[in-house]
Amino acid sequence: NKIRACETTGIQSYHYDLSAAVSEKDLVELIDTLNRREEVDGILVQLPLPKHLSAERLLDLIEPKKDVDGFHPLNIGNLMLGRPGVRPCTPFGVIKLLQSIAPDWAGKHAVVVGRSNIVGKPMAMLLLQENMTVSICHSRTVDLSHYLRHADVVVAAVGVPEFIRGDHLKKGAVVIDVGINRLANGRLVGDVHFDSAQKKASYITPVPGGVGPMTIAMLLWNTIAAYERTLR
Ligand code: GUN
Repeated sequence: NKIRACETTGIQSYHYDLSAAVSEKDLVELIDTLNRREEVDGILVQLPLPKHLSAERLLDLIEPKKDVDGFHPLNIGNLMLGRPGVRPCTPFGVIKLLQSIAPDWAGKHAVVVGRSNIVGKPMAMLLLQENMTVSICHSRTVDLSHYLRHADVVVAAVGVPEFIRGDHLKKGAVVIDVGINRLANGRLVGDVHFDSAQKKASYITPVPGGVGPMTIAMLLWNTIAAYERTLR
């Protein structure tokens, strides 16, 4: 999907379909080469990686200006401080979805369910930047339904199929489903039980076809922004 999106927008993409047994040394060398290639504006290491590779070490090697995933500690630090920098694609896309509903979310309560480095944590920071009141809930939260009942916006990123149901939600809540789970019967579902949640929500994103395409759109956004910075 990412390669196709690059083709339709006129971005040249290079796909390195490496063996799962690739050595960390070879990957370090590849990242180093791409860091130095002037015609490359963005680098993305698709996660998750095989167990013998350190994602932390490899992501740290990506030149922060070319880190179109926004996962480099420098970009995460800039996000935390509210400074300009590359924003992680999925949370950035969620903010764009919210902004398409209303320009101002100040004072509203957002509940982020999940605390991953890819979604939950950066999501909470971006919502805070929108002046929302933000709760981060996770697998150890006591009485999750208490938080969900009071949420104007729910961002579900737990990785448990159809975990959040309509009866958990406040009437009129905006529900953003970041989950992608494949059931035993092959069906793809989110972290939200769509049919019941749809009855309570004012807006809800489907799975597939909601957050996923937005993530790719923001990856292209970050890449074009990285290119434009090289022109200055
Ligand atoms: N795997 C799942 N989501 C992501 C993402 O946003 N970026 C990368 N690099 N890998 C992922």
